[in-house]
Amino acid sequence: MDNHILIKDLKPDSRVEDIYLLKLIGLRDKKNGGQYLLLKLSDMSGEIMGMMWDKISGVIDKVKPGDFVKVKFRVQVYNNNLQAIVSRIEKVEESDVENAEIFFPSSEIPADKLYEKIVAFAEEKIENKYIKELVMRVYKEPEIKPMLLKAPAAKSLHHAYRGGYLEHVYGLLRLAEKICEIYPFINRDLVYTGILFHDIGKLWELSYQRDFNYTTEGRLLGHIAIEYEFVTDKIKEIPDFPENYKLHLQHIILSHHGELEFGSPKRPKTPEALLVATIDNLDAKMNAMKKAIDTDTPSDHPDWTPFLPMFERVIFKKRP
Ligand SMILES: [Fe+2]
Ligand SMILES: [Fe+2]
Repeated sequence: MDNHILIKDLKPDSRVEDIYLLKLIGLRDKKNGGQYLLLKLSDMSGEIMGMMWDKISGVIDKVKPGDFVKVKFRVQVYNNNLQAIVSRIEKVEESDVENAEIFFPSSEIPADKLYEKIVAFAEEKIENKYIKELVMRVYKEPEIKPMLLKAPAAKSLHHAYRGGYLEHVYGLLRLAEKICEIYPFINRDLVYTGILFHDIGKLWELSYQRDFNYTTEGRLLGHIAIEYEFVTDKIKEIPDFPENYKLHLQHIILSHHGELEFGSPKRPKTPEALLVATIDNLDAKMNAMKKAIDTDTPSDHPDWTPFLPMFERVIFKKRP
C-alpha cells in the first residue's frame, strides 16, 4: 500500500485505480432521464466526490458507505473542483487492505502519546485526592482507554479524526492552565476535571470503528446526558466524595455548551463552568477554522472556503 495515491495528490486528467474508503453512495436522476451514482471517496488526506454514469446496475447493492473499495476513475475538473469519473467500483475486504490506517485521518500527535500527556498532567496537577481518584478511575479503566484512543471529539464539526477527542482535551487543559494564571481565584482542580469529563459521553454518543456517526444512544440522549449519568455513577463508587465538588462538576458538564440553544440544559453559573464553556467553544472553532483553511474543499474562489454552517460565513484562506 506504499504506492497509494493520496486524494490530496490527485491531478486533473490522471487515471487512477486504487483503494479508497467509500463515504457516501446514492442514486441520482440524470437531467435527460436515467440515473447515475453519486459517491464520495476518502483517505487520510481528504475527500473527493465521484460520479458513475454507466453500468451502475446492482452496484448500490454491492458496496455501502464505510466499505473499502477498489475504484477505477479519471480525475476531472468541474467548477474549480476535482471530481472522479468512476468506471468501476468493487468492494475490498478489510483483511485484504494492508495498511488500513492510511484511510483514516488522525491527530498530529499520536493518540497514545496524547493519552500519556493527559494522564501525566492530571497526576501532577490535580490536587484534591477525591477528584484525582475519580479521573484516574475513568481514564485508566481498561474498557475505556481503547475508546479514548480512538474517539473523535465530534462527528464532523471539529477534531473529527481518530485521536481527536484526546487532542481536544489536551488542548483545553493547556489553555486552562494558562488562563488560570490570570484568574488565580479559579479552582483549577474543578476546571481540569470538568475538561476531562466535559465530552466523555462522546465515547458512547458516537460510533467510530470506521466512519463516524451517532449511535442510537447518542441520538436519543446526547453526550451531555450520557456523561452526566456516567460521572454521577462513578462518583458514587468513591467513598466520602465531597458533595460540593460533585455539584460543581455536574454543573460544568451540564453547562459546557454555554447556551440553552446549543444543547446545554443550564448556562454557566460559576467561574469554572464559564471558563470551560468558553475555551471549549474557542478550541472547537479554532480547530474547525484551521481544517477549513488546510483542506481543499469545493468552493467558488480558491482564496475562500465554501460557506461554513458552523461559522455562518465564509473564511479567508490566504494566510498573512
Ligand atoms: Fe460537548
Ligand atoms: Fe468539547
